[in-house]
Amino acid sequence: MDLSRFSLEGKNALVTGGSRGIGRAIALAFADAGANVAISGRKLPDLEPVAEELKKKGVQSLAVASHVAKLEESKALVEKVKGEWGRIDVLVNNAGTNPYYGPMLEAEEWAWDVTMNVNLKGPFLLSRLVARLMKEQGGGSIINTASIAGIVASELGIYSVTKAGLIMLTRVLAKEWGQYKIRVNAIAPGVIKTRLSEALWKEPAKEKLAAKSKALGYIGVPEDVAGTALFLASDASSYITGEVILVDGGEFVGPALDYGK
Ligand SMILES: NC(=O)c1ccc[n+]([C@@H]2O[C@H](COP(=O)([O-])OP(=O)(O)OC[C@H]3O[C@@H](n4cnc5c(N)ncnc54)[C@H](OP(=O)(O)O)[C@@H]3O)[C@@H](O)[C@H]2O)c1
Repeated sequence: MDLSRFSLEGKNALVTGGSRGIGRAIALAFADAGANVAISGRKLPDLEPVAEELKKKGVQSLAVASHVAKLEESKALVEKVKGEWGRIDVLVNNAGTNPYYGPMLEAEEWAWDVTMNVNLKGPFLLSRLVARLMKEQGGGSIINTASIAGIVASELGIYSVTKAGLIMLTRVLAKEWGQYKIRVNAIAPGVIKTRLSEALWKEPAKEKLAAKSKALGYIGVPEDVAGTALFLASDASSYITGEVILVDGGEFVGPALDYGK
């Protein structure tokens, strides 16, 4: 096999939520594979050190402050990247939020609005802006960071609903945009150690419980997700679209079997 198909040499990528966690790990992996990488998030001071790390890998990088649910800011983000590099080959809709942990019965309307806007409306708006450019260019790859919570009903309530929506958005856009050679896929991570998921693993007892629920027996780290994103971004996955890849350490298949040995 021609292993250069796994390379991102000569490509330009945009990763939302690139300042930390899974987005940062994906951005660094893309740079290792040769791509120029633009990262966005709401706070420029958090993005700038990551942009420096990216540059040290010998590629170009951009740090752009942009709220993913605000259309005008997403327009400015796409214009900035297009203005600097002319094209966007890979978009990773990775920024996400979960401001409310608790029962649906108690959830307030603001929590629904914020979570829907950031996790679902944001990727919809940004994907359309970038897809218009990708269509002109002759194609591209869009990757959505969904969640196992979008597949299996979980205690994460509204967040789960947004991620299920993101999975269907992935399929709908893949179906519509395949004709423009734009592939759209999703990654569905299980619990990964980041700030967003602290409530699920910060207490040792909770970490033990979460680890035990997976066939591999441990909680993942952001780098565990990056390889799948790299594969979906690269030409090595050229015949895959509308797919959802679980990256969950075997959370979906469940705990390791114990025969009492
Ligand atoms: N960690 C897990 O267990 C897990 C599991 C499944 C799926 N995921 C998904 O993975 C993605 C990344 O999460 P993570 O765990 O890496 O979380 P994280 O470490 O908290 O990082 C979240 C990133 O998103 C950015 N962000 C948040 N709200 C934003 C907004 N309104 N506009 C633009 N950027 C925004 C943050 O930067 P600012 O705060 O500066 O904006 C940050 O860069 C999310 O979509 C999450 O739902 C995570």
